[in-house]
Amino acid sequence: MTDDVTIRAAAGSDLDALAELAGSRDRAEVRLQAAARGDDSMLVAVTAGVVVGVNSVRWRDGCDPPHPWLYGLAVDASHRRRGIGTELVRAAETMSSERDAGTVSLDVDVDDPAAIAFYEQLGYVIARAHEHRWRAIDPRTGAVTGEGIVPTWIMRRPLDQR
Ligand SMILES: CC(C)(COP(=O)(O)OP(=O)(O)OC[C@H]1O[C@@H](n2cnc3c(N)ncnc32)[C@H](O)[C@@H]1OP(=O)(O)O)[C@@H](O)C(=O)NCCC(=O)NCCS
Repeated sequence: MTDDVTIRAAAGSDLDALAELAGSRDRAEVRLQAAARGDDSMLVAVTAGVVVGVNSVRWRDGCDPPHPWLYGLAVDASHRRRGIGTELVRAAETMSSERDAGTVSLDVDVDDPAAIAFYEQLGYVIARAHEHRWRAIDPRTGAVTGEGIVPTWIMRRPLDQR
């Protein structure tokens, strides 16, 4: 990893910084809420006091139970190809091992070869096709404000490979 990057748990005070990385402020807030409930863990990468990357792990009710479900990985475009994405994934795997998970799981859009290449070089293997049902949620009311289905590949990595 670049030596000036720290991985830590996301905090409510990161919300402004996370809005862009998560795709929207509401999405970032919903993820912070899930982490505060303990449904998820949410990790951020910080350099020079600035949040430049994020990753979440869903511990229950992910898309490929019983495995921990990694989602929402993003690194700021100006900080890519420096190992930050790798460190965010490895930190999520370490947390999963500490919870006695044997495998971690995630999905990638079928038309996203860059993401597939990124995860393959980290040891992830396509396990099966998946129809990912996404939902946009209003963090203030919990109301579903949008939903859809995206074709994805589920990718898994056994944690005893290290
Ligand atoms: C995918 C993403 C998280 C990678 O973050 P990153 O910090 O740049 O990743 P790393 O620097 O750890 O990359 C490690 C290796 O992965 C591979 N890799 C990373 N990005 C790649 C790309 N766009 N195309 C092909 N291989 C890639 C390379 O082998 C790279 O090593 P190298 O730089 O020595 O060649 C980042 O590009 C991103 O945020 N993309 C937009 C959101 C996204 O696609 N998220 C994941 C899908 S859910």
